[in-house]
This record gives sequence, structure tokens and C-alpha cells, in this order.
Amino acid sequence: MRQVTPHRHPVYFDHAATSFPKPEAVKRAVVEHLDKFSANPGRSGHFLSLEASRSLFEARETVADFFHVDDSRKVLFARNATEALNLAIYGLLRQGDHVVTTSMEHNSVMRPLRDLEARGVIQISVVTSSPEGVADIKALAKAVRPKQTRLMVVNHASNVVGTLVDIGKIAEVKGNAYLLVDAAQSAGCIPIDLSSLSVDFLAFTGHKALQGPQGTGGLILKTGKEPLTPLVRGGTGSNSEFEKQPEFLPDKFESGTPNGCGASGLAAGIQVVKERGVEEIRGHEKKMMGKLLEGILPMDRIHVYGPRDPEKQSAVVSINVEGMISSEVGFQLDRNFDICVRTGLHCAPSAHKTIGSFPQGTVRISMGMTNTEDEVEEIIQALRWLVSH
Ligand code: ALA
Repeated sequence: MRQVTPHRHPVYFDHAATSFPKPEAVKRAVVEHLDKFSANPGRSGHFLSLEASRSLFEARETVADFFHVDDSRKVLFARNATEALNLAIYGLLRQGDHVVTTSMEHNSVMRPLRDLEARGVIQISVVTSSPEGVADIKALAKAVRPKQTRLMVVNHASNVVGTLVDIGKIAEVKGNAYLLVDAAQSAGCIPIDLSSLSVDFLAFTGHKALQGPQGTGGLILKTGKEPLTPLVRGGTGSNSEFEKQPEFLPDKFESGTPNGCGASGLAAGIQVVKERGVEEIRGHEKKMMGKLLEGILPMDRIHVYGPRDPEKQSAVVSINVEGMISSEVGFQLDRNFDICVRTGLHCAPSAHKTIGSFPQGTVRISMGMTNTEDEVEEIIQALRWLVSH
């Protein structure tokens, strides 16, 4: 088995890429699933397959309950937020449609949109956010073409600078367009109540703040009646007498053997988050962000991007150190302090152009519920050492 450098104790500040370490309950749930009932759900009639179906159903119910969705069939499991976003974008958009989005989006949104644009299928209006990453609501409203705009896509929290988007306000200006929200950076650490938001599609990932394993995530539909075509068609264990894809949820969008052990791990992760409470997690992360900002804002040679205000951002702080490229800072933090951050462009070139850090990128410090204030102190000290050497 592959050994991870055993003498190193990571100070992990890369939660925006994936959360680590995972809760014990998540590990136990995955192993228990593999150990006890990892049969194929919804296919065979034997008791192990029924057990597997039950656990998948329970995971779907857990997700629905977490986001306040009235019917768990509207939760479509996917491999990650990227796949969920692709499903919404490719599944909804047709020839001649127009899409409004912001300049802060990740390539999981930009690349599918640019692909459809390049093929002459859609037109896109990318509305430039402020250098702090704040969405320009008025400009978004103006960009909507009443008869042509089919979709508005925004992230809930930027993966580069954490800037939060007021989804309620966005929903007010979208007109008749569908609203797709990329909640990859917010699900699990910022409260989301879909029963009170006009969101048509919410894409989430399981492996970040929801604490689940990689390979989990999904798309949540508002009504279940959205005119969406599947990305993938195939075996569902249902309607097997027909070669036509079933039309009912969630089977229409979930062909092939699902990630059962992943779903069990995700459900366990959500349970951990629920027990601690999203509000409590948010409070903890705001406190850490406050401490970090207080420590680094006065430092010479450090430039902090984004709102610089814990109230206005998720626990993501992007910086640069004058005179050093971002990868060098990341290397020094890793090599000398066992501190893990992500550097570069974070798969979001447009966001970096918006905040003024393209093409060099930034050093992104992203905190999660398992981080402590002592760890924040460690990175402050490490950065102090860096700028003075
Ligand atoms: N999108 C993830 C990140 O921002 C992977 O790091």
C-alpha cells in the first residue's frame, strides 16, 4: 500500500479543493457499506441488493432533508459538482438560447458554456463582477433578454476569493430564465434552504464542506418537471423491457451502477455537519477568517484579494506575496511548515482576471470545520517568516 510521508503532520488549508481529514463516521460508513451490503441497488431482488437500495434511498433522503427539498426524487446523484453543472447546462440548453453568467465562475461552468457557444448553439453574456468578486446585480438584470435568456448561472461562493453571492437577489432579476446555482463551495458551510429560494437547479459536491468522499455530489431540481435531457443513458434496473430511457426521477438521470459506498459516506458526512450545525460551522470559520485577516492584512508585501470581510465571504482567503510567484509561496509553506494550500488559477481564469491576479494566480488559504485557531496562528507565523526572509 502507498505510504504517505509518515513524519509529516499537515496543517491543511485546502478545504476548497476537498475537505481533509474526513470524519471517522464517514470512513466507518464507507467501510461498513463495502463490508456488509455492497450489492447492486435496484437491480437484483435478493436481500443484499434490497439493503443496498435502502441505503441509497436513505442517502438521497438525507440530502433532501439537508437542503429542505420536499421530495428526494428531485436529488440526482452525480460524481461531483462539475458533472451536476454539466447535466444542467447540456440538459437544458437548446439552439438559440442565451445564458447570463458572471465573470467569477469556475471552468466547470465556463467550459461547457464556451463549448456550446463555439458550436453556435448558445449566446453568452458574462457580466463582470467587482474586483472583490461581488456580482453586479444591476448589470445581470440588464443582461437578461426577456425572450431569449434561458439560463442564469452563478456560484454561491467563489472558489478563488470566497465572495458570497446573494442568491435571493439574483433570483429577483433572472426574469423567466432558469437559475442554476453552483454550491460547490457553500454546501455544508453556508446555510442553504431551498424551500425559500427560487433556485431551479442546485449543483453540489459531497467531498468539500459536506465532508463526504470524493466521487459524490449531485444536482437538485426545483420541481422535477424541468425540461432536462440526461447526459448519460443506460441501465437503471427499471423499465428493463424498454430500450427507451425511463422518464421518471431519479432513474432518468442515473444510469449505470451508482456510487453506493460514496452515497453512504456522504450521508454520514451530512449527519456530522448537521450534528455540529451549519450555523456553528459558519461561526467557527468566520472566527478563523477574522484571525487570519487580522494577522496578514497589516503585513508588508502581502496582498489580500476579495472582500477581506468574514461576513462577505466563505472561509477562503486568496493572497500574493510581493516578489514571489504563488507556486513558490505554496512550495515554501509546504516544504518548511507542512502547510497545505492551493496556488495558481484554481480552474477559474476568468475569476482571476476579475480580481487582477491573472495569469500568475494566487495563494489560496481555504479553511474548514476541522481547522483550529492554533493552525491559523501557524500560517500567520509562517507567512511572517516568509515575508521577512
Ligand atoms: N474546484 C476546486 C478548487 O477550487 C477543486 O480547488
